Amino acid sequence: MLRATDHAHLLIQPVLYPGAWAVDATVGNGHDTLFLAQQVGPTGRVFGFDIQAEALASARPKLAGLSHVMLTHGGHEHLARDLPDEAKGKLTAVMFNLGYLPGATKGVTTSIASTLSALAQALDCLAVGGRITLVLYPGHPGGAEEAAAVRAYADDLPAGFAAALCVRIKPLRPAPELLVIEKHR
Ligand SMILES: C[S@@+](CC[C@H](N)C(=O)[O-])C[C@H]1O[C@@H](n2cnc3c(N)ncnc32)[C@H](O)[C@@H]1O
Repeated sequence: MLRATDHAHLLIQPVLYPGAWAVDATVGNGHDTLFLAQQVGPTGRVFGFDIQAEALASARPKLAGLSHVMLTHGGHEHLARDLPDEAKGKLTAVMFNLGYLPGATKGVTTSIASTLSALAQALDCLAVGGRITLVLYPGHPGGAEEAAAVRAYADDLPAGFAAALCVRIKPLRPAPELLVIEKHR
Protein backbone atom coordinates (compact mmCIF):
# COMPACT_ATOMS: atom_id res chain seq x y z
CA MET A 1 0.00 0.00 0.00
CA LEU A 2 1.32 3.47 -0.82
CA ARG A 3 1.92 5.69 2.20
CA ALA A 4 0.79 9.33 2.40
CA THR A 5 4.42 10.33 1.83
CA ASP A 6 4.52 8.27 -1.41
CA HIS A 7 1.38 10.06 -2.60
CA ALA A 8 3.06 13.37 -1.75
CA HIS A 9 5.93 12.47 -4.10
CA LEU A 10 3.50 11.54 -6.86
CA LEU A 11 1.59 14.81 -6.54
CA ILE A 12 4.60 17.11 -6.25
CA GLN A 13 6.53 15.45 -9.08
CA PRO A 14 4.69 17.25 -11.93
CA VAL A 15 6.01 20.63 -10.73
CA LEU A 16 9.62 19.44 -10.44
CA TYR A 17 12.04 19.63 -13.36
CA PRO A 18 15.78 20.11 -13.84
CA GLY A 19 16.66 23.59 -12.58
CA ALA A 20 13.57 24.02 -10.36
CA TRP A 21 13.83 25.46 -6.84
CA ALA A 22 12.18 23.58 -3.96
CA VAL A 23 11.93 23.53 -0.16
CA ASP A 24 11.72 20.64 2.27
CA ALA A 25 10.23 22.37 5.32
CA THR A 26 10.74 19.31 7.57
CA VAL A 27 13.93 17.47 6.57
CA GLY A 28 13.74 14.71 9.19
CA ASN A 29 15.63 11.69 7.92
CA GLY A 30 16.05 13.32 4.50
CA HIS A 31 13.89 11.12 2.28
CA ASP A 32 11.87 14.02 0.85
CA THR A 33 14.97 16.20 0.55
CA LEU A 34 16.73 13.51 -1.47
CA PHE A 35 13.68 13.03 -3.67
CA LEU A 36 13.50 16.79 -4.38
CA ALA A 37 17.26 16.94 -5.03
CA GLN A 38 17.05 14.08 -7.54
CA GLN A 39 14.13 15.69 -9.36
CA VAL A 40 15.60 19.20 -9.70
CA GLY A 41 19.13 17.98 -10.44
CA PRO A 42 22.40 19.89 -10.01
CA THR A 43 21.08 22.99 -11.81
CA GLY A 44 18.21 23.29 -9.33
CA ARG A 45 18.19 24.21 -5.64
CA VAL A 46 16.71 22.49 -2.59
CA PHE A 47 16.50 24.31 0.74
CA GLY A 48 15.85 22.12 3.77
CA PHE A 49 14.88 23.10 7.31
CA ASP A 50 14.78 21.17 10.57
CA ILE A 51 15.00 22.23 14.19
CA GLN A 52 16.65 18.98 15.31
CA ALA A 53 20.39 18.49 14.86
CA GLU A 54 19.67 14.76 15.12
CA ALA A 55 17.45 14.96 12.02
CA LEU A 56 20.05 16.80 9.96
CA ALA A 57 22.74 14.34 11.08
CA SER A 58 20.52 11.51 9.86
CA ALA A 59 19.76 13.24 6.54
CA ARG A 60 23.29 14.43 5.66
CA PRO A 61 24.80 11.07 4.59
CA LYS A 62 21.94 10.59 2.06
CA LEU A 63 22.67 14.03 0.62
CA ALA A 64 26.46 13.72 0.46
CA GLY A 65 27.88 15.26 -2.71
CA LEU A 66 24.65 17.07 -3.61
CA SER A 67 25.94 20.64 -3.59
CA HIS A 68 22.60 22.01 -4.80
CA VAL A 69 21.05 21.07 -1.41
CA MET A 70 21.29 23.67 1.35
CA LEU A 71 20.29 22.60 4.87
CA THR A 72 19.41 25.02 7.65
CA HIS A 73 19.39 23.98 11.28
CA GLY A 74 16.40 26.11 12.22
CA GLY A 75 12.65 26.40 12.11
CA HIS A 76 10.59 26.68 8.95
CA GLU A 77 8.81 29.61 10.58
CA HIS A 78 11.86 31.62 9.44
CA LEU A 79 11.53 30.41 5.86
CA ALA A 80 11.21 33.82 4.23
CA ARG A 81 14.09 35.27 6.26
CA ASP A 82 16.41 32.34 5.58
CA LEU A 83 15.78 31.79 1.89
CA PRO A 84 17.81 33.82 -0.60
CA ASP A 85 15.89 36.76 -2.07
CA GLU A 86 15.81 35.09 -5.53
CA ALA A 87 13.74 32.24 -4.06
CA LYS A 88 10.73 34.51 -3.55
CA GLY A 89 8.20 33.72 -6.27
CA LYS A 90 10.50 31.06 -7.69
CA LEU A 91 9.71 27.97 -5.63
CA THR A 92 7.73 25.37 -7.54
CA ALA A 93 7.52 22.88 -4.67
CA VAL A 94 7.38 23.01 -0.88
CA MET A 95 6.96 19.83 1.14
CA PHE A 96 5.81 19.57 4.75
CA ASN A 97 5.81 16.21 6.52
CA LEU A 98 4.47 17.07 9.95
CA GLY A 99 4.80 15.31 13.28
CA TYR A 100 7.90 13.84 14.87
CA LEU A 101 11.18 12.44 13.58
CA PRO A 102 10.66 8.72 12.90
CA GLY A 103 12.94 6.63 15.08
CA ALA A 104 13.57 9.46 17.58
CA THR A 105 11.86 10.65 20.73
CA LYS A 106 8.32 11.83 20.08
CA GLY A 107 8.99 14.82 22.34
CA VAL A 108 9.78 17.17 19.43
CA THR A 109 6.99 17.63 16.92
CA THR A 110 5.85 20.31 14.56
CA SER A 111 3.44 22.82 16.14
CA ILE A 112 0.38 24.71 14.97
CA ALA A 113 1.87 28.21 15.27
CA SER A 114 5.11 27.49 13.44
CA THR A 115 3.45 25.30 10.81
CA LEU A 116 0.84 27.94 9.94
CA SER A 117 3.45 30.69 9.92
CA ALA A 118 5.69 28.66 7.59
CA LEU A 119 2.74 27.81 5.39
CA ALA A 120 1.84 31.47 4.96
CA GLN A 121 5.45 32.28 4.05
CA ALA A 122 5.57 29.35 1.62
CA LEU A 123 2.48 30.70 -0.16
CA ASP A 124 4.31 34.02 -0.60
CA CYS A 125 7.35 32.33 -2.11
CA LEU A 126 5.51 30.03 -4.50
CA ALA A 127 5.70 30.45 -8.29
CA VAL A 128 2.47 30.40 -10.29
CA GLY A 129 1.73 26.72 -10.89
CA GLY A 130 3.73 25.76 -7.79
CA ARG A 131 2.51 23.24 -5.22
CA ILE A 132 2.76 22.68 -1.48
CA THR A 133 2.22 19.22 -0.01
CA LEU A 134 1.42 18.67 3.65
CA VAL A 135 1.33 15.21 5.19
CA LEU A 136 -0.74 15.38 8.37
CA TYR A 137 -0.69 12.83 11.19
CA PRO A 138 -3.71 13.14 13.49
CA GLY A 139 -2.58 10.12 15.55
CA HIS A 140 0.10 11.54 17.87
CA PRO A 141 -0.53 13.92 20.80
CA GLY A 142 -1.34 17.33 19.33
CA GLY A 143 -1.49 15.89 15.81
CA ALA A 144 -5.27 15.98 15.47
CA GLU A 145 -5.34 19.65 16.52
CA GLU A 146 -2.51 20.50 14.12
CA ALA A 147 -4.22 18.65 11.25
CA ALA A 148 -7.50 20.47 11.99
CA ALA A 149 -5.69 23.84 12.04
CA VAL A 150 -4.03 23.15 8.68
CA ARG A 151 -7.32 22.00 7.15
CA ALA A 152 -9.04 25.15 8.43
CA TYR A 153 -6.24 27.30 7.01
CA ALA A 154 -6.57 25.57 3.65
CA ASP A 155 -10.32 26.24 3.65
CA ASP A 156 -9.66 29.98 3.67
CA LEU A 157 -6.71 30.58 1.35
CA PRO A 158 -5.94 33.92 -0.29
CA ALA A 159 -7.15 34.48 -3.86
CA GLY A 160 -5.09 32.64 -6.43
CA PHE A 161 -4.64 29.49 -4.36
CA ALA A 162 -6.65 26.27 -4.26
CA ALA A 163 -6.41 23.32 -1.89
CA ALA A 164 -7.45 19.69 -2.04
CA LEU A 165 -7.46 17.00 0.59
CA CYS A 166 -6.09 14.37 -1.76
CA VAL A 167 -5.49 11.30 0.34
CA ARG A 168 -6.69 9.79 3.61
CA ILE A 169 -4.95 6.50 4.22
CA LYS A 170 -7.35 3.88 5.58
CA PRO A 171 -7.71 1.56 7.44
CA LEU A 172 -5.07 3.33 9.56
CA ARG A 173 -6.76 5.11 12.41
CA PRO A 174 -6.56 8.04 12.77
CA ALA A 175 -5.74 8.11 9.08
CA PRO A 176 -2.70 10.10 7.83
CA GLU A 177 -3.77 12.70 5.30
CA LEU A 178 -2.20 14.49 2.36
CA LEU A 179 -3.27 18.03 1.60
CA VAL A 180 -2.08 19.80 -1.56
CA ILE A 181 -2.17 23.55 -2.17
CA GLU A 182 -1.58 24.97 -5.64
CA LYS A 183 -1.00 28.54 -6.78
CA HIS A 184 -3.02 28.86 -9.95
CA ARG A 185 -2.53 32.56 -10.70
C1 LIG B 1 7.86 13.56 10.13
S1 LIG B 1 9.45 14.26 10.33
C2 LIG B 1 9.94 14.61 8.67
C3 LIG B 1 10.32 13.41 7.87
C4 LIG B 1 11.11 13.74 6.63
N1 LIG B 1 10.38 14.55 5.69
C5 LIG B 1 11.74 12.53 5.95
O1 LIG B 1 11.65 12.41 4.75
O2 LIG B 1 12.35 11.74 6.66
C6 LIG B 1 9.09 15.88 10.98
C7 LIG B 1 10.32 16.72 11.21
O3 LIG B 1 9.90 18.06 11.45
C8 LIG B 1 10.86 18.65 12.27
N2 LIG B 1 10.35 19.91 12.82
C9 LIG B 1 9.57 20.12 13.91
N3 LIG B 1 9.32 21.43 14.06
C10 LIG B 1 9.96 22.07 13.03
C11 LIG B 1 10.09 23.43 12.65
N4 LIG B 1 9.50 24.42 13.33
N5 LIG B 1 10.83 23.72 11.55
C12 LIG B 1 11.45 22.73 10.83
N6 LIG B 1 11.36 21.42 11.17
C13 LIG B 1 10.63 21.10 12.25
C14 LIG B 1 11.16 17.58 13.30
O4 LIG B 1 12.40 17.83 13.93
C15 LIG B 1 11.14 16.32 12.43
O5 LIG B 1 12.44 15.95 12.03
